[in-house]
Amino acid sequence: MNEITLGEGSTPLLRAPRLGERYGVEELWLKWEGANPTGSFKDRGMAVATTRAVERGVTRLVCASTGNTAASSAAYAARAGIEAVIVVPAGAIAASKLVQVRAVGGTIVEVEGSFSDAFAHAEALASEPGSTFVNSGGSEDRIEGQMTVAAEIAEQLGGAPDAVTLPYGGGGNTRAVARGFEELVSSLPALYPVEAARRPDTVASAIRITEPVHERWVHEAVERSGGSLITVTDEEILDAWKNLRALEGVFSEPASAAGIAGLAHAEHEGLVVCIVTGHGLKDPAAVGA
Ligand SMILES: Cc1ncc(COP(=O)(O)O)c(C=O)c1O
Repeated sequence: MNEITLGEGSTPLLRAPRLGERYGVEELWLKWEGANPTGSFKDRGMAVATTRAVERGVTRLVCASTGNTAASSAAYAARAGIEAVIVVPAGAIAASKLVQVRAVGGTIVEVEGSFSDAFAHAEALASEPGSTFVNSGGSEDRIEGQMTVAAEIAEQLGGAPDAVTLPYGGGGNTRAVARGFEELVSSLPALYPVEAARRPDTVASAIRITEPVHERWVHEAVERSGGSLITVTDEEILDAWKNLRALEGVFSEPASAAGIAGLAHAEHEGLVVCIVTGHGLKDPAAVGA
């Protein structure tokens, strides 16, 4: 097998005592996924999806994206020597993520409408010969790759944490994290996926998704885990984003701070891990706000 990798995974797990104190969490840890090769957790799944696509003779990756899947698919396609076509809702994507795509030769197709419109368009493009769909909503490979974060967290801590919070967009990552803990660690922490109240136009551009493809699985996993689904305002996200930077020196993108904002609403005890999903340089526009 010709493995297509950029060195994804093995990201830092950082103790966050000052942030923990701010949110009343005794033992808080940050799983820093912004340290992945293209700056987000998407790389874990894209490495698996691209490797398997190349094995099947695919010559074009197709996806719809709020930005990070775009950056990741373009980079892994370049690495594999194949094409990447990325469909995005016009005007809704952070500029730096589009730069990441163009820098490695990916093709961007803008459509008017929402992420769901972009998703439908990408599905149609992916049905053309030689193409494959690499959204987590259409690719088990993506989910399987993203499951690895659960095993890593357990390895780094010496066991599963009591609770995990993470941002919730389409729900693929929540689904992958739940499966990872259940299948690779045999212990499911209380899960707290955190969504933005202003889903279609939240400041957290990476989670501007109104119809989460994985919604059913997210609800089932949350119930099995004893956690809950949390909704936060943009003000709470921006406040958490600032706290994460100022108190721990971790510069994430705004969407990634949703999991931190959720701490104020989660009924957690003991050791909590927040999955901080993407790097701040990808979406820095609101820093001055
Ligand atoms: C930085 C970031 N965080 C969180 C998410 C949400 O992940 P999911 O759509 O798998 O729920 C995304 C999705 O694009 C993202 O880019």
